[in-house]
Amino acid sequence: MNLREKLEISSHSIFSQIIRSYDVIGDIAVIKIPKKIEHKSDEIARAIMQVNQHIKTVLQQIGPVKGELRLRNLKWLAGEKKTETLHKESGCIFKVDLEKCYFSPRLSFERMRVAKQVMPNEIIVNMFAGVGCFSILIAKYAKPRKVYSIDINPEAIRYLEENITLNKVNYVVESIKGDAKEVIMSRLQNLADRVLMPLPEKALEYLNYALFTLKTNGGKIHYYDFIRAEKGKDPIEEVQRRVSERLQDAKVSFRFTFGRIVRTVGPRWYQVVLDIDIYKKDNRAYQYLNN
Ligand SMILES: C[S@@+](CC[C@H](N)C(=O)[O-])C[C@H]1O[C@@H](n2cnc3c(N)ncnc32)[C@H](O)[C@@H]1O
Repeated sequence: MNLREKLEISSHSIFSQIIRSYDVIGDIAVIKIPKKIEHKSDEIARAIMQVNQHIKTVLQQIGPVKGELRLRNLKWLAGEKKTETLHKESGCIFKVDLEKCYFSPRLSFERMRVAKQVMPNEIIVNMFAGVGCFSILIAKYAKPRKVYSIDINPEAIRYLEENITLNKVNYVVESIKGDAKEVIMSRLQNLADRVLMPLPEKALEYLNYALFTLKTNGGKIHYYDFIRAEKGKDPIEEVQRRVSERLQDAKVSFRFTFGRIVRTVGPRWYQVVLDIDIYKKDNRAYQYLNN
């Protein structure tokens, strides 16, 4: 019996809303329940566990991912009372506490897309590393020399360090606790071939610091942003416009090599990634820029 038959939900739109907003991370399912059927939440949770035998816990996400640490507010619904799990993705294993750290299985395609571009011996700075999904996948899949992995959340750093050991990438991935701005300015200037910026809320504000960490002869930035695009406007072009202004102010030469909508976040609201090639930098040009 499938989930829909089990739940006897007749409304197709409500059922598809549950399915769209339902993540499986390791043996934990995280669901968002539409207001209209909140009274059925226990029943939905039990049905999910019956239909998917490997799921041991069902948690309800209350509200959006929020705050500087990008955390979810979770309520236990069924199964074992836990928020920690082990998640397998692309030959890697990630331990994560879903209440204390950010984690999204929906970025797996994006993580592999970036990993496939990495050339041997690259030095990479991941400015917002979380529990290490991008960094560890890159270390396992490609042959970088170093992946400096920064996060401001001490819990994310604790799991990142455990994941580095679990995946045996100790000599390649280095965890650094702190604010990406401060870490870059104090110890990671002019050394990276590639910079990852997987925190859309702060991408534009931190773009100058991505420039600071790139080598003087330039490199590549993977830039993630959120954008609201009016009807008829292309979200990718809108982000390109915003980023171009900032890079022109910084007087660096650059080229957008790729752009795509990673996911739709809400009505006319999108997460977009741009791959940007930065050519020769002149540190004097942007070091006095204000955000
Ligand atoms: C959206 S999560 C991305 C995590 C990870 N890259 C992934 O894909 O799973 C953003 C991460 O940035 C961290 N963060 C927020 N502000 C930061 C800052 N100023 N410096 C460094 N990390 C920060 C958060 O703690 C969070 O783990």
